[in-house]
Amino acid sequence: MKIAPSVLSADFGKLKEQIELINNSEADLFHVDIMDGRFVPNISFGFPIMEVLKKYASKPLDVHLMIVEPEKYVESFISAGADLVSFHLEATAHAHRLLHLIRSRNAKAGLAINPQTGPSFLPELGGELDFVNVMSVNPGFGGQSFIQQSLKKIQALSEYRSSENLGFEIEVDGGVNHKNAADLKNAGANILVAGNFVFKDESPLDRIADLKRI
Ligand code: DX5
Ligand code: ZN
Repeated sequence: MKIAPSVLSADFGKLKEQIELINNSEADLFHVDIMDGRFVPNISFGFPIMEVLKKYASKPLDVHLMIVEPEKYVESFISAGADLVSFHLEATAHAHRLLHLIRSRNAKAGLAINPQTGPSFLPELGGELDFVNVMSVNPGFGGQSFIQQSLKKIQALSEYRSSENLGFEIEVDGGVNHKNAADLKNAGANILVAGNFVFKDESPLDRIADLKRI
């Protein structure tokens, strides 16, 4: 199980320390939420924070684009240091092209799907993907409750993956904690994003270790 703490929930007043905390933890990735105030009803941060992350983070940057017209910015985020990039299926008519573009730039290509979106894209896109980012909350904010229905979708993705011998990873994003992590693992997820569960706790390192031990 890979753990990806979500920087969105970090204390930006001491960002460098928070990055070093994750560097020294058992976490595997930094999850970086980019929100444009159009695809989602919130604005997070952009390239200046990417620069700080690229400078200090010693683990790969998993950039989650919650933006309209992701095709306009994917390459800039890869140039800014993204190692994994996911964009929303709901935000573009050209997912296939964009997945290829990301891979051609030697980054891992991910498709993020909102709670409303089912796995019907799999026959067309399943072979073009490095990972699926299953949103288990409505994107836009940290600290929301996990949507239980996501488990079935993860199972369906996982079953399709085995039946077609595909290799994409399954990331789960939103409301992940020590209570649902085992179910998520059993359903077939192998990357857990966690924001509030890690950063709003007194012992982030212990919470990362809790998830890692699931
Ligand atoms: C939600 C973001 C998530 C969020 C997760 O729109 O994509 O990555 O930061 O935060 P928690 O774990 O607090 O739900
Ligand atoms: Zn995210």
